[in-house]
Amino acid sequence: MNKLSFLLIAGLLIIMKTSLQAQIDIIPKPQESKILKGNFVLSQEISFTAPGINDNLTNYFKDYLKQKYNVRFVNTKNEKISSIYMEIDKNFLNRKPEAYTLKINSNEIKIVSSTEEGIFHGIQTVLQLLPEKKSKTGNVKIQNCEITDFPRFPWRGLNLDCARHFMTKDFIKRYIDILAYYKFNIFHWHLTDDQGWRIEIKKYPKLTQIGAWRKEADGSIYGGFYTQQDIKEIVAYAKSRYITIVPEIEMPGHCTASLAAYPENSCTGGPFDVAITWGVFKDVYCAGRDSTFTFLENILDEVINLFPGKYIHIGGDEVPKDRWKACPRDQARIKAEGLKDEEGLQSYFIKRISDYLNSKGKEVIGWDEILQGGLAPGAIVESWQSFQGAVEAAHLGHYTLSSPASFTYFNSSPEDLDLRTVYSFNPIPDSLPADETKYILGGEASLWTENCPQEKVDTQLFPRILALSEVFWSDPAERDYKEFHMRVEKAYKDLTAHNIKYGPESKAISFSTSYNKEKNEFTVNVRTDQKDLIIRYTENGNEPDSNSSLYTEPIKIDKTVNLKIAPFRNSRIVGKLTNLSFDFHKALNAKITILNPYSERYPASGENTLIDGVRGTDNFRDGLWQGYEGEDFDAVIDLGKAEEISKVTPRFLLNTGPWIFLPTKVIVSLSKDGKNYFEEKSVDNDVPEKNPAVILKDYPVNFNKQEARYIKVKAVSIKKCPPWHPGAGGKAWLFIDEIEVK
Ligand code: ACM
Repeated sequence: MNKLSFLLIAGLLIIMKTSLQAQIDIIPKPQESKILKGNFVLSQEISFTAPGINDNLTNYFKDYLKQKYNVRFVNTKNEKISSIYMEIDKNFLNRKPEAYTLKINSNEIKIVSSTEEGIFHGIQTVLQLLPEKKSKTGNVKIQNCEITDFPRFPWRGLNLDCARHFMTKDFIKRYIDILAYYKFNIFHWHLTDDQGWRIEIKKYPKLTQIGAWRKEADGSIYGGFYTQQDIKEIVAYAKSRYITIVPEIEMPGHCTASLAAYPENSCTGGPFDVAITWGVFKDVYCAGRDSTFTFLENILDEVINLFPGKYIHIGGDEVPKDRWKACPRDQARIKAEGLKDEEGLQSYFIKRISDYLNSKGKEVIGWDEILQGGLAPGAIVESWQSFQGAVEAAHLGHYTLSSPASFTYFNSSPEDLDLRTVYSFNPIPDSLPADETKYILGGEASLWTENCPQEKVDTQLFPRILALSEVFWSDPAERDYKEFHMRVEKAYKDLTAHNIKYGPESKAISFSTSYNKEKNEFTVNVRTDQKDLIIRYTENGNEPDSNSSLYTEPIKIDKTVNLKIAPFRNSRIVGKLTNLSFDFHKALNAKITILNPYSERYPASGENTLIDGVRGTDNFRDGLWQGYEGEDFDAVIDLGKAEEISKVTPRFLLNTGPWIFLPTKVIVSLSKDGKNYFEEKSVDNDVPEKNPAVILKDYPVNFNKQEARYIKVKAVSIKKCPPWHPGAGGKAWLFIDEIEVK
């Protein structure tokens, strides 16, 4: 390379680097932005003028600056001090709602909008641009720039399930601040479900006296609720952050907690307990009793008084029709109203409640099941099962929220729904004609909290909710994952500063194992495709920390150990711990013939997985467990030659949430020739099947020491989910990993 081209390339690289550095590092990306020369430097005294803008909003900004940077405010302007100027201009940007411009030059920050919401969004942009700390020279500096910004969608929400797990008032306020910071404007508050009723209703005190508390399987009491005073406080707080709260009061299903308190609103009359397992429950509100509607209308009257927003979410999802089919009152209603069937009754239910709410000036939102049997006039459909509900609603001329689980349900692990996939989400369904796209108001992130107490919420939502913030706000034509990811990497510092315990972006690490018979040694290979992650591990069963062994090459295992492997970013674990137990036993690398086929959904690594020396973990999706759907397990191990055998221990999983049950019985027999089996022994299950815990259960089958070459192992599945289980009658899973032979 000659000197000139070297200089040219070097120069180009420098230009590229500076232009990358000088981008506006905020999330969501503004619609238009321009970097200007120079910096704004915050002086100790600031002139602050905001003509016509309410004191609450002005003070919100001033208090932030005062607390964080210890500045003072004066009313006079002069060249030596920096100035902040905010203004409402009614004609601004043709009154595009929520839009703002922000101009930052060397001595002024200027925000203009036609609305206070717009000013508030402009302030949030400034908060993201402000440095966390003063520079070494003691300055608080912002790159000069010019931003014109407005949202792509008017509805940018988070649906937080506070019914399955209760979240404190302070935690909700914290989330309102977090949502505002990333320019969300809706907090959808899921307040009632089978496992808890969380909103005080004065007319029906048992809703919270009974419905807010559940007795867990271990006898402990779990629960909590928001008093009306708490709710007023939270609503006022949200208002000050320009966030609308949409309460969700579930009906006609997902109401076991309500029925536990007032069983007279059910078809059977109960009694019921507040649910302690997860799923879909058959007992729903009886649509044949007028008293059910009176009860719900009285509740809604109090809800309306508490929440000034226009919208009430009434759920409507996952309503089994079993009870209505068997209930004479519901059947009489179907006949009297000339309805086609139980789906027609669901539609009748939603319409009746919707009419009531409309008469009080409120609009109804429901999950896409409210399309069943015909949509209530004016109802907004929140499409969660797929895009289909949004498409159908838009065809019918109804507004709709695009919240398909496959992109927006952050209860899914980042392994199943990663940051890149969330970022690729387009809320406008591909099949929607252009003239119907106006019906897509936007969408929501959802966090269903069956497996997510308050302390895990950050980890489930972050960083993935950053991608949705950008999907809902920014220009899709500008979307570039690589560029977005650079801003996410910078945002991690900001998240840490705000004490947000973010989780992984995707499956953080994957591993494979192999066994070398000659050396009697396992090799564990660990990989990550996230370049800023490091991997640490322990072999003593302790959770790895920032001092544990750093993974740099495949790990060799030559004795029985418990290997724990974790991904770290900035000395914090981000992502699932991988917990591997190794077993040196006689069947390692033997031949196994599986007689009943395993499910293609859970093959693990095929037949050999059961005798590879690595035991399945408490995560049924770890790729180590093999699953059988509604089938027994039946297999023969061939050790290759006769060996002395005293114990055979297959291991199974109990995890009733995803329908995984233990076998009722395990039967093992031995053979020398593979034809004649002897010494049949069995072990019965002794773990109660109705159990909310995840249990890894050994079934040790002991023999008097004797020679055998073939080992037949059979495990008897319960085949169908038991009557108490939400999946009653559906195919039960049997999960097995490792058959240890000693
Ligand atoms: C839902 O996830 N059942 C709305």
